[in-house]
Amino acid sequence: MGDSVDSAVLLVFFVLICSWTHVLSAEEGYISVEISNKGLDFVKDLLIEKAETSLVPLELPKIEKTVKIPVIGKVHMEVSNIILYRIHVTSSTVKTGDTGILIDVAGATANLSMNWRYSYSTWLVPISISDKGEASIQVEGMEIGLTLGLKNQQGSIKLSLLDCGCNVSDLSIHLDGGASWLYQGLIDAFENKIASAVENAVCKKLEDAVEKLDPLLQSLPKEVTMDNIFSFNISFVGDPKLSNFSLELELNGLFSLKDETAVTKLQHENVQVPISCNGPARMVGISVHEKVLESAATVYFETNKMHWIVDNIPDQNLMNTAGWKFIVPQLYKQYPNDDLNLNISVYSTPVIKIVEQQVDATIPLEVIIDVLDAGQVVPVACISVVISAAAYPEISSNALAGSLRLNEFTMSEEWSKIGNLHMYFIQPMISTLLRTVVLPYINVKLNKGFPLPHFHGYGLTNSQLLCTDSRLMICSDVASIETAPPHFIPVLQW
Ligand SMILES: *[C@@H]1O[C@H](CO)[C@@H](O)[C@H](O)[C@H]1NC(C)=O
Ligand SMILES: *[C@@H]1O[C@H](CO)[C@@H](O)[C@H](O)[C@H]1NC(C)=O
Ligand SMILES: *[C@@H]1O[C@H](CO)[C@@H](O)[C@H](O)[C@H]1NC(C)=O
Ligand SMILES: *[C@@H]1O[C@H](CO)[C@@H](O)[C@H](O)[C@H]1NC(C)=O
Ligand SMILES: *[C@@H]1O[C@H](CO)[C@@H](O)[C@H](O)[C@H]1NC(C)=O
Repeated sequence: MGDSVDSAVLLVFFVLICSWTHVLSAEEGYISVEISNKGLDFVKDLLIEKAETSLVPLELPKIEKTVKIPVIGKVHMEVSNIILYRIHVTSSTVKTGDTGILIDVAGATANLSMNWRYSYSTWLVPISISDKGEASIQVEGMEIGLTLGLKNQQGSIKLSLLDCGCNVSDLSIHLDGGASWLYQGLIDAFENKIASAVENAVCKKLEDAVEKLDPLLQSLPKEVTMDNIFSFNISFVGDPKLSNFSLELELNGLFSLKDETAVTKLQHENVQVPISCNGPARMVGISVHEKVLESAATVYFETNKMHWIVDNIPDQNLMNTAGWKFIVPQLYKQYPNDDLNLNISVYSTPVIKIVEQQVDATIPLEVIIDVLDAGQVVPVACISVVISAAAYPEISSNALAGSLRLNEFTMSEEWSKIGNLHMYFIQPMISTLLRTVVLPYINVKLNKGFPLPHFHGYGLTNSQLLCTDSRLMICSDVASIETAPPHFIPVLQW
């Protein structure tokens, strides 16, 4: 297998996981990835395809033997330069077992070439006689059984070959030249030895290949750092879980500011829900707990305080104190005919809850009314507005996107230098502001979406997104995608 296997294996453990981008006692993560039998089958085919090309050429040790041939006597025979140069797998299966992942190659053929030589001396002639030539060997029935073990080693996945068995049953040797007595002698003497040499060499080579893969897996990042500001923890939590139908991996999945531990401290709560992708079977199910979105929102909020200065709204009258003459008489009295600004900011982390069919977001805003008085910006009042909105996530072949719809909002006066504000009068203005400024702004960001990664030319296709209680489920197939380089963009940007 060797180096060329990397894309296949990285695919298994990674592609699905970087898509976006604790309870250790309970051994559960906030993102779980379930690879179904269909997905394992896809990976298995990929691995076998790689193995067919990278296991060969495989050189076997030379074999010597002295045999007794009737009439001729004792003959020293030797086959050397035995090279397995082609393996072709015709049928194979993969399944999950208690101990690991079992790959069973039920039908494989192989071709080998070798050099033969013999020598003997007989009482008939005093000198020693020898000859040599080439031979080709065809293996028709080869079975290979592998058990791969997966374990969590300090947040990485450790891969090991627990068991390997290879059985060569149907082998035919064709000599180029050689007498019939020699032919029979060679077959009798070497068939079993060549078969067991092939069996040993194949398993040894597979063991080496797995050993080479393991450091590759260990070297996968445990966290993705974005812009040197925050990181996305993709450490594996707990050992991979094997069931009769799937392989399940759990990842921490939380975003945090760089060099700080995760924003959300996990309680001893049960974050796991059974993954269920309804409808046609997909290769992979990725379940994302709402805490992942919450941690991303927190980090985003910490690093990008959202903030707008608005001096232009559809009802432009309201952008001058004259328009407020009857709503807030004191404002007009103190600052007659001055222009106004609205300074809107999201003042604390939005709260995100995933429910059936949608994502609920609660976004707390602060709206400060500024008067522009003789070149001075004078804040005169502050209103707190809490928006309750529904987000509808969507997934396409290359992005996770969504849109936000306003459900309702509540508002209250925080402070005022212009007397009591009558919310009843102010509400239509705030409503206009939300519909024409705040939500469209957020929606432009959300509509662009978050690109999904392609990894070594593979990415998610045929994806479906579901919202269930506290979890977002992505049910997807994986396929080769004809696009460019891998990228990790687990940024929640809006
Ligand atoms: C390899 O072996 C298969 C059968 O095992 C045979 O059909 C095929 O012709 C062989 N190929 C070569 C190049 O010898
Ligand atoms: C190898 O295959 C042959 C024929 O299918 C079978 O009779 C034999 O028991 C197998 N040996 C092992 C060790 O599985
Ligand atoms: C898995 O399959 C085995 C045999 O096929 C069966 O004994 C076992 O109960 C199954 N386990 C589950 C969890 O379905
Ligand atoms: C990342 O997650 C792992 C597993 O849950 C945890 O042990 C580790 O402390 C986390 N790292 C950070 C920086 O939070
Ligand atoms: C807007 O309000 C925030 C406080 O909520 C303040 O930090 C910021 O300076 C204000 N911006 C302007 C331009 O007044």
